Amino acid sequence: MVGFTTVLKTLPALAASALASVNYPTIPTDLTTPVQQRLAVYGPNSVSVGWNTYEQLNQSCVTYGTSADDLSSKACSTGSSTYSTSRTWSSAVVLTDLTPATTYYYKIVSTNSTVDHFLSPRTPGDKTPFNLDVVIDLGVYGADGFTISSTNSKKDTIPYVQPALNHTTIGRLADTVDDYEIIIHPGDFAYADDWYLKLANLFDGTEAYQSILEQFYDQLAPIAARKPYMASPGNHEADCSEIPYLLELCPEGQKNFTDFMHRFEKTMPTPFTSSSTNTTAQALATQAKSYALPPFWYSFEYGMAHIVMINTETDFTDAPDGTDGSADLDSGPFGKQGQQLEFLKADLASVDRTVTPWLIVAGHRPWYSTGGSDNICDSCQDAFEELFYTYGVDLGVFGHVHNSQRFTPIYNGTVDSANLTDPKAPMYIIASGAGNIEGLSDVGTEPDYTEFAYADDYSYATLKLLDEQHLQIDFIRSSTGAVLDSSTLYKSHATQFVVQ
Ligand SMILES: *[C@@H]1O[C@H](CO)[C@@H](O)[C@H](O)[C@H]1NC(C)=O
Ligand SMILES: *[C@@H]1O[C@H](CO)[C@@H](O)[C@H](O)[C@H]1NC(C)=O
Ligand SMILES: *[C@@H]1O[C@H](CO)[C@@H](O)[C@H](O)[C@H]1NC(C)=O
Ligand SMILES: *[C@@H]1O[C@H](CO)[C@@H](O)[C@H](O)[C@H]1NC(C)=O
Ligand SMILES: *[C@@H]1O[C@H](CO)[C@@H](O)[C@H](O)[C@H]1NC(C)=O
Ligand SMILES: *[C@@H]1O[C@H](CO)[C@@H](O)[C@H](O)[C@H]1NC(C)=O
Ligand SMILES: *[C@@H]1O[C@H](CO)[C@@H](O)[C@H](O)[C@H]1NC(C)=O
Repeated sequence: MVGFTTVLKTLPALAASALASVNYPTIPTDLTTPVQQRLAVYGPNSVSVGWNTYEQLNQSCVTYGTSADDLSSKACSTGSSTYSTSRTWSSAVVLTDLTPATTYYYKIVSTNSTVDHFLSPRTPGDKTPFNLDVVIDLGVYGADGFTISSTNSKKDTIPYVQPALNHTTIGRLADTVDDYEIIIHPGDFAYADDWYLKLANLFDGTEAYQSILEQFYDQLAPIAARKPYMASPGNHEADCSEIPYLLELCPEGQKNFTDFMHRFEKTMPTPFTSSSTNTTAQALATQAKSYALPPFWYSFEYGMAHIVMINTETDFTDAPDGTDGSADLDSGPFGKQGQQLEFLKADLASVDRTVTPWLIVAGHRPWYSTGGSDNICDSCQDAFEELFYTYGVDLGVFGHVHNSQRFTPIYNGTVDSANLTDPKAPMYIIASGAGNIEGLSDVGTEPDYTEFAYADDYSYATLKLLDEQHLQIDFIRSSTGAVLDSSTLYKSHATQFVVQ
């Protein structure tokens, strides 16, 4: 959310720094070397592996197995893809027939790759407690982004993260890698479209945009190659710049969510086949599958949770990044008219709470936030809120406003007097303080339904699915690991199919 005035204010400050060339990562000598690795939950028994290479692969393969010494299974796909301004090609392979909740070792096939490991997804309906981290609005670190000092004590199994870059949030995710099973990241990755905030990049915007994407996804790889990392779109994925004047200069390849789509479209899932015994629910889940459009909108199940990722940027009436949208980002639509909302309706209606009691929906732009009306997406509220209420969404997870916030359960501006004890209205959080070049957003004015708001340091959230009735939500200060706020939502989940 940086406007043109910010740029004008920033330019003189930057004028003192020296011009330098774009900070592209070094291209490995072995062009088959996998970079920017990323996993995702792809189905009840499958995980997708995505990565990029600096040459085209005609066949992309991954070997895997339950022991590091025996990678006897192999999965392949044909054809890595690229787009006009990219230096790399994206590959995606799906590993199927996995035994649930089991450690698998995998190696992307290359003359220069190493073995990593992941935990396969929990079966829908597995009632084992697990933690899920929420990271939103996370940008590149270093010369093209931001840095912050931190001291992280390391465990022996943590992924290797370059210490020199001082990745506060990524560093914390690495340190605590045994404490959570998956991550959701609904929007705003890298902040490549903020390239112009660094003077050195001003005369080479096209290259700077690509270099930031390469750097960021390299920085994220230690985490995303270890944990399923579920992505959905934010405004920073749309174009080469948020400034309308510069936007007109965006080259082909840096408009209309191109990198986001290439990177994640083959790795994000479609809704799972229903595990419910109810035939109506089965039919609704099948419908949701046909309306889903990953990576823009989709759902997946993991143990006790049914998780839906929505697109608050395009594909509904007055969507902010749509071709006539308020953000002037001239993007989408990606689906047919009404498709996203048809998906959401069928998907929410299909959720059998005896299988997956917890229903969580994540999107980028919020409709409840501190800081006044500029932080609210009214058209998103008009499109989505009623469906959330009708089908009894337990938790709405949002971003866009760069800080951490939590609200009393609320519907249509009216708080639910049940508060955290079996409310009918959804509870909402914003977990967007992960850190990016635009900095943190002041908390600003707090609506009276605000329970917690924090903008003093970088932060993220951990959702602890304790059992079928209790969901604990912790906000974590990235630099120290301190719990800033903890609340527990109780839901009886007594109704198998909620319609209210
Ligand atoms: C092999 O990969 C590592 C990192 O994954 C990289 O640092 C190194 O340069 C690569 N070697 C070659 C020969 O490309
Ligand atoms: C992939 O196929 C193309 C033509 O289809 C060929 O030019 C290229 O050399 C192949 N690349 C590799 C790495 O085998
Ligand atoms: C990282 O933090 C250390 C001290 O915590 C500091 O000396 C160093 O300059 C920082 N690195 C960057 C790239 O900011
Ligand atoms: C099956 O699910 C639908 C909602 O999806 C519900 O209306 C219906 O009552 C359920 N049928 C049974 C037998 O539980
Ligand atoms: C964006 O891409 C989608 C399909 O990928 C296309 O249907 C749509 O027209 C594009 N929008 C613009 C503004 O180019
Ligand atoms: C939402 O609240 C407004 C008043 O603030 C009211 O006019 C409207 O009817 C309400 N909508 C629903 C769906 O309850
Ligand atoms: C809701 O419950 C929490 C936890 O018990 C409490 O701190 C908070 O004040 C309550 N809020 C309202 C509006 O009652």
